[in-house]
Amino acid sequence: MRMRKKKNLIPRMEKCAACQVKDGFALRGRWQEALMGGARELRVELGCGKGRFTAETARLNPDILFVAIEKVPDAMVVAMERVMALELKNVFFVVGDAALLPDYFAPGEVDLIYINFCDPWPSGRHAKRRLTHGNFLKLYRQVLKMGGQIHFKTDNQPLFEFSVEELPQFGFALSEVTRNLHENGPVGVMTDYEAKFYGLGQPINRCVGTMTEWDAPFPTTFRAVKNQWLDAFAGDVSEADLGKHVLAEGNYLWHIFSWKLVPCLEGGGARDALAALPAGKAYLFYEGKWNDLPYVKPVELPLAANFFEDLHDVYLVDKDFTWTYVHTHEEACGPYFCRAGT
Ligand SMILES: C[S@@+](CC[C@H](N)C(=O)[O-])C[C@H]1O[C@@H](n2cnc3c(N)ncnc32)[C@H](O)[C@@H]1O
Repeated sequence: MRMRKKKNLIPRMEKCAACQVKDGFALRGRWQEALMGGARELRVELGCGKGRFTAETARLNPDILFVAIEKVPDAMVVAMERVMALELKNVFFVVGDAALLPDYFAPGEVDLIYINFCDPWPSGRHAKRRLTHGNFLKLYRQVLKMGGQIHFKTDNQPLFEFSVEELPQFGFALSEVTRNLHENGPVGVMTDYEAKFYGLGQPINRCVGTMTEWDAPFPTTFRAVKNQWLDAFAGDVSEADLGKHVLAEGNYLWHIFSWKLVPCLEGGGARDALAALPAGKAYLFYEGKWNDLPYVKPVELPLAANFFEDLHDVYLVDKDFTWTYVHTHEEACGPYFCRAGT
């Protein structure tokens, strides 16, 4: 939303201090306890804009705690003033980013997420910025209760079609799907944008996604596996060490072990740890530094005794990246075995 800079923004925000949470990270895991003990649910709205929906929904549900997260304070101040004028005590605002949701809320802390008329980011290049993109849906999974819901509305048809395909792929069961919500007259509380588009006769799309059990599929591209491997096993390595010893041309991911940047088992200890793993599926990937292209493929444990004979610089991981085993091309280096977080 492009907003003109508001005059007197700071004093106006200060007048609404009672409904603003200045440090959203500090309440992680205790929003209800800190702000509204006895609240029946905690609902979060992403990108509340000027807050017509926020204020009216909170007014209609006084026993529910609402937290609205908005990137642009110039819009949010209008929402806060609305809430103050109505003297609502069950809605709070955070100047923040939806991308940080798991830093604001603990696992399972949120009952419902509202996404209303989010920016459509029409170019495919920007698809990852859509608040209904899989990467965001994975973040929502980290804070929603099992059975928790996403309520999504938009006037933008391509964004809606993208979203109804995306939600089920990330474990959200679709219901209440409509491409013309107000066909027979206004339904539910309208947002500022919705009221405007409805006034122009534009159809409004809506759907609900309910979170179900879901197993994240194993990534299929080398780049995605590499990034997840680094997140899992090199999360504590400094950017400087990573750049110099691991990611710079001519280096290998396993240099986190050979440079002793991450503790691990080595040699016989690593082989024993691999042999002790339960039978089942693991994934093998190769960095592709020699003549071969990088690859990712499933393998079954236990492996044959000569499995690594003609292989070099290959990595084994389990589906959740809780352990990794590395067979390098250098006799003096490895093999290495590491459990994430040890
Ligand atoms: C098109 S407006 C819709 C506002 C309101 N939901 C409505 O329907 O009237 C989108 C809003 O989302 C906010 N926004 C966009 N990306 C965001 C993000 N990652 N985190 C928080 N707010 C965001 C924008 O600043 C803007 O206020």
